[in-house]
Amino acid sequence: MPFDALRSSSSSAVSVGASPEAPGSNAPIGIFDSGLGGLSVLRAVRAALPDERLIYAADSLYAPYGERDDDFIADRTLAICEWLLSQGAKALVVACNTATSQSIAQTRESLAVPVIGVEPGIKPAAITSQTRVVGVLATAVTLRSARFQALAERHTGDCRFILQPGYGLVQAMERCDTDSPELVALLRSYVQPMLDANADTLVLGCTHYPFLDEAIRSIAGDRLTLVDTSVAIARQLERQLDSFGLRAVPAQDQDQTQAQAIELPRFYSTNDGQTLRQLAASLLGLDMVVEHVVISSRRLGLESDPV
Ligand code: DGL
Repeated sequence: MPFDALRSSSSSAVSVGASPEAPGSNAPIGIFDSGLGGLSVLRAVRAALPDERLIYAADSLYAPYGERDDDFIADRTLAICEWLLSQGAKALVVACNTATSQSIAQTRESLAVPVIGVEPGIKPAAITSQTRVVGVLATAVTLRSARFQALAERHTGDCRFILQPGYGLVQAMERCDTDSPELVALLRSYVQPMLDANADTLVLGCTHYPFLDEAIRSIAGDRLTLVDTSVAIARQLERQLDSFGLRAVPAQDQDQTQAQAIELPRFYSTNDGQTLRQLAASLLGLDMVVEHVVISSRRLGLESDPV
């Protein structure tokens, strides 16, 4: 496994194929984020696994998660994952560092499919940094989580990590703002102190942040190596599908009827989906209809207004 930042489902929590109604290899993979950031993971998954059908769910009505309490995040994560299973998903990617850091263990315990989570790329950053000073940009919830603290402790060694909560960044991206002067100024206030401290590496510890790469480059030029784990997550998903015999049949090996069934990703959002549609089109070149979905959860019931 290239990055310890990735965690697969433990075999004890998985009983794929054991029940007659378990989804088969042609079932879709469910990808979930609090909002639009998981598109960076979806992009990597599409590139690595072009034969897989994908369903993307954005909980944008309740984004950002990064300043919510732990119970709220766990409640929404489980509810969205269960909804994806109800859509026939054979495996799930929690494409959100914040949701992973707070609730991946609980989610895996509750669900009988492989669940792949994401964590900031602390290990690759600690391996590659020459100056031994590494900036970490992630949500406040991720940075204060026990899971992240343990990860950082494991890999600190002689490295110094500068932990910076990215207040306001997810909110900006959820408005489809990836390059406004205000956003660049906010980013600069986070990144400049890292440069001043001689950091040469920046961990993008939130799946929204890879879409800010140009804005970061406009501030840091080539001085920072950006660590984004989306490609490694896609590889980990591939390994999990292989180990459970869940890889989709490659398109060239399918008969015509099956091949026609291979489709573009399906997008769902708990808000009106306008920004998801806009970002998927501008960042991924996918101009897709986004369906609105109401997903109830234990704590929020069926209400659909943000709390
Ligand atoms: N993309 C989510 C993450 O990776 C953003 C969390 C949020 O909604 O604040 O953490």
